Amino acid sequence: MRSRSFLAALVCAAVGLSHAAPTAEPDPKFAVSVQIAGSTLTNKGLVGFGRIPSNFRESTGDTFGGAGSAIYIKRGSFKKTSNGTFTGTLIMQPDRGFNVITTIDYRTRQFVVDFSLQPYYGDADLSFADAQETLSLKYRSTLLYTERDGKKPTGLEPLGVRAKDGRAGIQPEADPAMPIASASDNRLSIDAEGLAINPDGTWWTSDEAGPYIYKFNSGGFLLQTIQPPQAFLPLNNGSLNFTEAVDPQTGRAGNKGFEGLTISPTGDKLFALLQSATVQDGGSDKSTSRFTRMVGYTIPPANEELNIEPTLFGEWVVPLPVNSKQNTLAQSEFHYLTDTTFFVLSRDANGGGGSPSTSSYKQADLFDISGATNIRGTKFDNPKNPVSPDGVLDPSITPATYVPFVNFLDPVQLARFGLHNGNPTGSQLIDSKFESLALAPVNDPKFPNDYFLFTASDNDFISTQGFFDGVPFNGGEDIDTQILVFRVTLPNVAPGSIEQAISI
Ligand SMILES: *[C@@H]1O[C@H](CO)[C@@H](O)[C@H](O)[C@H]1NC(C)=O
Ligand SMILES: *[C@@H]1O[C@H](CO)[C@@H](O)[C@H](O)[C@H]1NC(C)=O
Ligand SMILES: *[C@@H]1O[C@H](CO)[C@@H](O)[C@H](O)[C@H]1NC(C)=O
Repeated sequence: MRSRSFLAALVCAAVGLSHAAPTAEPDPKFAVSVQIAGSTLTNKGLVGFGRIPSNFRESTGDTFGGAGSAIYIKRGSFKKTSNGTFTGTLIMQPDRGFNVITTIDYRTRQFVVDFSLQPYYGDADLSFADAQETLSLKYRSTLLYTERDGKKPTGLEPLGVRAKDGRAGIQPEADPAMPIASASDNRLSIDAEGLAINPDGTWWTSDEAGPYIYKFNSGGFLLQTIQPPQAFLPLNNGSLNFTEAVDPQTGRAGNKGFEGLTISPTGDKLFALLQSATVQDGGSDKSTSRFTRMVGYTIPPANEELNIEPTLFGEWVVPLPVNSKQNTLAQSEFHYLTDTTFFVLSRDANGGGGSPSTSSYKQADLFDISGATNIRGTKFDNPKNPVSPDGVLDPSITPATYVPFVNFLDPVQLARFGLHNGNPTGSQLIDSKFESLALAPVNDPKFPNDYFLFTASDNDFISTQGFFDGVPFNGGEDIDTQILVFRVTLPNVAPGSIEQAISI
């Protein structure tokens, strides 16, 4: 239990959130500061919580789920109203659909969800009902993804390979060999994980299977595919096999592709990060999989008509944290702060929807590559040359600097919003799989470097009242989509440079 006066508890319970005297600023006692790349960054605590119930159905009639796999605050949507409430629009991109008990043939898509954030800075624990008033969410619409020729991408296991597109002159970059559902089902198989929206409304989606980065136009049509170096590709005896069910001989491990995708505010630099090490770098075992790889591409000025090929300008090794058993805490998302410093979401798989329900690590940490070795174009792009054979880093490589930062599991912060870590299960248990990050400026003249950090969970579509394509499914329990909002100070980021098109 948290210590606070009995009287305060009584008053809070009696009047509820809406009548409590609003505290305009975070309580300084919640602040936790860290240093990275010569700057001090501060976590000022949890300020908002929202949820979308597990049985909610979107406009197609399907269960709304998986939505926290990737989020992006729509450019130009974030606004501060005169009464101190913030409003905006989240674009949320689910992954491959329900596949916990049965596997559904889920078409890749994204959701538009409006939000209203009324930050809570008080010390007292809110009731769970009042906590949800701090971030209210309203689903608006669904956009389904499509290939150029009209084919509908699917989340089915990619058992087949579509040969490299040999067409010349149709566009500067024809497709590389693509993951498809099977030899007889030529639909592109996408297990979407990352989302980065360009200033012109086109966007990039990263996936697990390729691991590839796909560019879509604002209508959801596939425009272009980025294939990373050989070292990343799932190869068996020199041939591509995109299945996620088993590890390839070399390349990204099964179901451990490009979980992380992020873009500079101007859209000129795009970065992708593997969930954990490639197989040759130790990725087949949790005890040796911490040295993961990041790629960086320069993107020519966005132009829907001319898909000029992005240029790989860097590749770096990021050392993920490990737990007390030395097992890797894999990453599920990262987010651009500067050309060299990034947020990264590393965690275990425990909590709501996972087992056990007590999580020991769920954090938005930081890493910096200013002193790290750029291995682009070196022997390490050949899968024969691991950067960390059996999990031991090659001494010629300096990895990124990694610093723990925002702890989602802080019991005092969770309790302020009616949440907890560990049993009992239910809506107030923090979800296991937080998988996304977004930033928006607080626009407080007293704290010009303060930002809201949003993170949402992937509930794996788990609902006892699941619905897909008109057919019910039962996921065995009810796991809501949860969204947490923290307030952070990021002084090495010039105000407005993050999601700069976000208006205030
Ligand atoms: C603040 O204003 C917005 C719209 O301007 C409104 O939707 C919201 O309910 C208001 N919030 C409070 C706490 O008055
Ligand atoms: C890839 O491997 C899976 C599982 O081992 C197998 O079922 C599938 O046929 C393979 N696909 C190709 C294109 O070789
Ligand atoms: C690789 O080739 C060897 C030799 O032909 C074969 O025995 C083995 O099954 C192949 N492995 C895979 C994963 O295809």
